[in-house]
Amino acid sequence: MSTPSIENIRHILVVGSGAMGSQIGLVAALAGYRVTIQDISAEMLAAAKSQLASRLQANVAKGKASAADADAALARLSFRTDLAAVADADFVIEAATERLDIKQEIFARLGELAPPHAILATNSSTLGSSKVAAASGRPTQVCNMHFFNPALVMKCVEVVRNEATSQTTVDTTMELARRFGKEPVLINREVPGFVANRLMGAIQKEALALHAAGIASLEDIDSTAKTALGHPMGPFELMDMVGLDVIDFIAQATYDETGTEADRPHPAITELVGQGRLGRRTGRGWYSY
Ligand code: CAA
Repeated sequence: MSTPSIENIRHILVVGSGAMGSQIGLVAALAGYRVTIQDISAEMLAAAKSQLASRLQANVAKGKASAADADAALARLSFRTDLAAVADADFVIEAATERLDIKQEIFARLGELAPPHAILATNSSTLGSSKVAAASGRPTQVCNMHFFNPALVMKCVEVVRNEATSQTTVDTTMELARRFGKEPVLINREVPGFVANRLMGAIQKEALALHAAGIASLEDIDSTAKTALGHPMGPFELMDMVGLDVIDFIAQATYDETGTEADRPHPAITELVGQGRLGRRTGRGWYSY
């Protein structure tokens, strides 16, 4: 099996065209890579394509990019409902549904079809790559490459190695993130939530406790995080942006793995999810939009 190397990377396949996958694809295209975004849903792909085109137009309007650069980035992006492009992919970033059975199926197909040197990374925030490594048939070339929402803006990328991940895979993935203009951090061992979501979870837990005890309002807790601590968003605003269903899912996945009572999904969030109040996406979460 030939060794992965940053110099071999020309074509990147992103599996999944949701908010994360589509923006990751644009990040890669803006960095000069040829990118294929794949999704089984043609509707999702069409929506992603038009959103990315609008983002590029906004950059041009703001004077952040020339029209020629924006056109070139768009021209580097292809949108496909089939996985044929994997045969020519040097690096794959899977950003599909957070379901282990689906991811294992995807990694099995990627492992079969991708060139031997290709690295297969998952953007999952909850499933460590060790869970899909065996299915891929190339466990040394598998890791997590976890971006943050909104992926076009947030600088951090968590590169998480599993026990089988080779040093070359880690080095290549870290370097690719740098070439994307990101500031990658290395997570040496799979732990639920990696680093960023554990930090975010700790703040959210405290914010929920303060609110439930009537110590301060949502608005004042959010305002404190911003004006006292310099956070760009308060914890409740952030939960609404990420999606309360996603927050609930992360907590459940963490609890399933640790069995620690403190990691259980918070009942207030589960209740809002039950009412369809998922945050900005549905027009209502902690706040109304
Ligand atoms: N997609 C793409 N770009 C976006 C965007 C979006 N959804 N929202 C805002 N932006 C861009 C804007 O276009 C703007 O770009 P320019 O500088 O080129 O003009 C820039 O971000 C700043 O936006 P705004 O001026 O509108 O607003 P802001 O200064 O308040 O920034 C923010 C918005 C970047 C979202 C900022 O509030 C922020 O950093 N919030 C915290 C986000 C965060 O913590 N994300 C991590 C979530 S956890 C996660 O993702 C992990 C997980 O596994 C769930």
